[in-house]
Amino acid sequence: MHLRDAQGQPIATRREDYAAPAYWIDTVDLCLDLDPAKTRVLNRMRMRRNPDMSPQALRLDGDELNLARVLVDGQGASFRMEAEQLVIDNLPDAFELEIFTTCQPAKNTKLMGLYVSEGTFFTQCESQGFRRITYFIDRPDVMASYTVTLRANKAAYPVLLSNGNLVEQGDLQGPGNEGRHFARWVDPHKKPSYLFALVAGQLVAREQRITARNGSQHLLQVYVRPGDLDKTEHAMTSLIHSVAWDEARFGLPLDLERFMIVATSDFNMGAMENKGLNIFNTKYVLASQATATDTDFGNIERVVGHEYFHNWSGNRVTCRDWFQLSLKEGLTVFRDQEFSQDLCADASARAVKRIEDVRVLRTAQFPEDAGPMAHPVRPDSYIEITNFYTVTIYEKGAELVRMMQTLVGREGFAHGLTLYFERHDGQAVTCDDFAQAIADANPGSELALRLAQFKRWYSQAGTPRVSARGRYDAAARSYTLDFTQSCPPTPGQPVKAPFVIPVNIGLVAPDGRELPLQLDGESQAQHGTRLLVLAQESESVTFVEVDSEPVPSILRGFSAPVILDFDYGDTQLLTLLAHDTDPFNRWEAAQRLALRSAIN
Ligand code: SER
Ligand code: ZN
Repeated sequence: MHLRDAQGQPIATRREDYAAPAYWIDTVDLCLDLDPAKTRVLNRMRMRRNPDMSPQALRLDGDELNLARVLVDGQGASFRMEAEQLVIDNLPDAFELEIFTTCQPAKNTKLMGLYVSEGTFFTQCESQGFRRITYFIDRPDVMASYTVTLRANKAAYPVLLSNGNLVEQGDLQGPGNEGRHFARWVDPHKKPSYLFALVAGQLVAREQRITARNGSQHLLQVYVRPGDLDKTEHAMTSLIHSVAWDEARFGLPLDLERFMIVATSDFNMGAMENKGLNIFNTKYVLASQATATDTDFGNIERVVGHEYFHNWSGNRVTCRDWFQLSLKEGLTVFRDQEFSQDLCADASARAVKRIEDVRVLRTAQFPEDAGPMAHPVRPDSYIEITNFYTVTIYEKGAELVRMMQTLVGREGFAHGLTLYFERHDGQAVTCDDFAQAIADANPGSELALRLAQFKRWYSQAGTPRVSARGRYDAAARSYTLDFTQSCPPTPGQPVKAPFVIPVNIGLVAPDGRELPLQLDGESQAQHGTRLLVLAQESESVTFVEVDSEPVPSILRGFSAPVILDFDYGDTQLLTLLAHDTDPFNRWEAAQRLALRSAIN
């Protein structure tokens, strides 16, 4: 559903038009009587005017809802409908708004909002599905405290789940309530509406109690259809690893008494990070030892990790608007990539994971960035936000975060993330806020010194091309690398300004030794990989005290999402293949050799 102009053309939403909401919603008390044909939703909200905005009407988003009643402070209120919005004028500064609507989950084939899959209720609210459940200010910068009461037939829907902690459950009393029960959930954390979830049906759970480092106890649950329980062991193990990893690597603990994963076979996305109640496509939960492949197991671990890590990067700190989608997705893909690598037993397995991630980038994201759908990691406008869940927002976004880690170092990045969560916990923020926190935690770093230029990665689309040329001067015993960078035009962006490109580099001697690296003007050599930071259209670096012509190993670990041109000879590639200490570039040398012999 999009806004349309008088001629019926869809209207684009633009990032620069952002304005804070005119009203805040502090609390939401939802009561749902679940029925596939007609579910009744009573929504009571405590609201107040945003004093920073000029007085204006309250506008609530809705989509395919049947409206029965609107009360302001318990009194019938006058309202009007404008397209799909419910509009109320002349409201006091603070008030309680009660809205009663019905919807038809069994007929909801969009799988957005509340729907039924194989007799079980599920929800999907990212990015604009909550408005299909009730009227709401359905945007991520409106964060509220939720209490949710679910009521349903007990035999058909024995399990009733929502976000947060289960505070009360029991049988319903009174006429008309025979055979019905209820459950009440309170989410202790404020959240945007896109993280709301409920599940109701006949499900069973694998359970595990864990004790966190700080001694707190938590219940982990993986819910599936009866009969699938024996296929949930790997998902549960992955969840346990995820909780431990986020605490160990980034000091981010599980902040809920209970954490639930539920699998469904009808789901638009891979999975969804609803607070405390992640909903998954079954393919990322169920694995049988007899039939699942290594890839299946790896994907479950990755997606379970991804959704769990959103609990901080996305849920505790969320996006101000949907233009900032990569704030949570790029960061969380980066985190799940690091998680999968850290779980690898040895260095070569880590490298294989990095190679796999780069292959996804090159085979899916580079073509997107070179075609008519090319868009920046932080887009400037959209007609339909659903179309922006792309490899650019996710995978290229993750590479931007990885470059920041490369520029400030692994420890500096962990400090930056700590500062980001300290500064913005409970807030809806922007990609600028994220980059600023990483830079502020690392004053004097290459990122802090070049932050404004670095952020071109967020605004300029297209894959930059880095061309390098080597010159060996035997008399001077020096080796010079000349770099130039360029970026092809993309829709709406004919000309690009230079990027900040971190290039990890090493020099390999023809006999395979890794050479010490001493830049012209330095008194001492450094050993191992060095970071060069390119920031201009063309620039050169010269290494001194180089005894023989080296083979440069450029862009180690694929330190930037660029295309590297270097005119390697076969012998040079064989040297790298045999001796490079960087496993990624060993693989890369083999790729270049193989491609070359296939073409020739
Ligand atoms: N937010 C969801 C995810 O990234 C949607 O794909 O997992
Ligand atoms: Zn995600």
